[in-house]
Amino acid sequence: MKTTTRSRATTIRRPTKHRPASATARPAKRAIEIDANRRLLNNYRYVEHEAMLQLAGWLPRTATFEFKCEMGRSLWEYSQHVNSLYLRLREIQSPAFQKPTDAALVRLVSEMLHAPDEFAFACGLYRVVLPSLISALESHETTTFPNSDQPSVHVIAHALLDLRAQLQRVEPLLIAAEKSGKFTAATRAWERYLRQLLAACGGISGLAKRRPAPALAPAGRVAFIAPREAARDERFTNLLADLGAMPDETQYAAHTVEEFERYSTEMLAAETVALVLFAVRGMPWEFQYDTARHLYDEVRHCLMGYEWMRAHDMDPFQSPQYLHIYKWRSQYPPLMQYCMLTMGNEVHAFPYRHRRVEAHQQSGDKLSEQFVRYDIADETQHVRFGKRWLPELIKHLGEKRSFEQYTADVIKVWEQEYRTGKLTLNVE
Ligand SMILES: [Fe+2]
Ligand SMILES: [Fe+2]
Repeated sequence: MKTTTRSRATTIRRPTKHRPASATARPAKRAIEIDANRRLLNNYRYVEHEAMLQLAGWLPRTATFEFKCEMGRSLWEYSQHVNSLYLRLREIQSPAFQKPTDAALVRLVSEMLHAPDEFAFACGLYRVVLPSLISALESHETTTFPNSDQPSVHVIAHALLDLRAQLQRVEPLLIAAEKSGKFTAATRAWERYLRQLLAACGGISGLAKRRPAPALAPAGRVAFIAPREAARDERFTNLLADLGAMPDETQYAAHTVEEFERYSTEMLAAETVALVLFAVRGMPWEFQYDTARHLYDEVRHCLMGYEWMRAHDMDPFQSPQYLHIYKWRSQYPPLMQYCMLTMGNEVHAFPYRHRRVEAHQQSGDKLSEQFVRYDIADETQHVRFGKRWLPELIKHLGEKRSFEQYTADVIKVWEQEYRTGKLTLNVE
């Protein structure tokens, strides 16, 4: 019996595939030591955390609808991974989030933002950085101490599910864009550049052989500026119509069509939240975490409108996009945008939404009823986010007025401008 145990032990070398922690698991001969481990986990966290913020910056500027929606989803999934890594990292280092010491990794990730166009940005993230992150995580999952480091293995295994699925969803979009001639020479040069930067840091793990870094960025590099206008692709033909009056609620069928058409334009709310998330730095992680969810919820509300319209043989791409609403909101500071959205639009929507649930119930329209009730659940959280974070933002951004006074002043502007439909743009 003893001999068998010894001989089995000597056959265990570096594991090559997933080894669940169990009573019989043995550490790999070259398992990841704890100091290397926290550096690696922090690097993965850094890559996903930065990708999340960069996606927030790019979301309003991205025209292709499917990419825009995917960005909202990826961003929210990264927030889940960053949060899990945060909970793990704070057990093994303080502070939990640290800027990586590897300058080559920082350069790669920082450069990714300054892509010449949306396809170049997507190629950099989904074709260069993510595949390398996935292989770093796969290797980590199977080479760390299976029992001692099981909490990290758990985080990694779950993140991998999302990251692999993201590549499966995005790659067909990239292939279609490439086939339809949307990739320019600058797009391709950008992808090559990011590959060189990746090789210079030895992959996301930093463990591969390092190659010399490119001296210069390609000519197509564009220093990123937060977008003050929202982009739509060529399928949208009605970009700037006025909101106009909706058919009266007593006209059930006509009103319901407009109700869900309006949902299909909630991308505008996602775009404003994205701009706030991108612009406000230095707040606690939980603010970014909640804001990522807020943003993704608005993408889902928009898609709910698409789903409803398609189920009723309508084409959502024909809906007016009201793009001047984003332009109008984005002329104000991020704090004011966030306050107008949460304490203006969102707080005031509840009586109407509850009337709609009742109307759908009375008419036996189960789909519409369910959609609105899910929406109410999300919007309740958004108001909670606003009430939780506005006082913190006010302090963080040095606003002198109290939360109550500030909100009252902002809502006055919102009433005069948004509710009346004036939406005045102060031309600079
Ligand atoms: Fe919404
Ligand atoms: Fe909302």
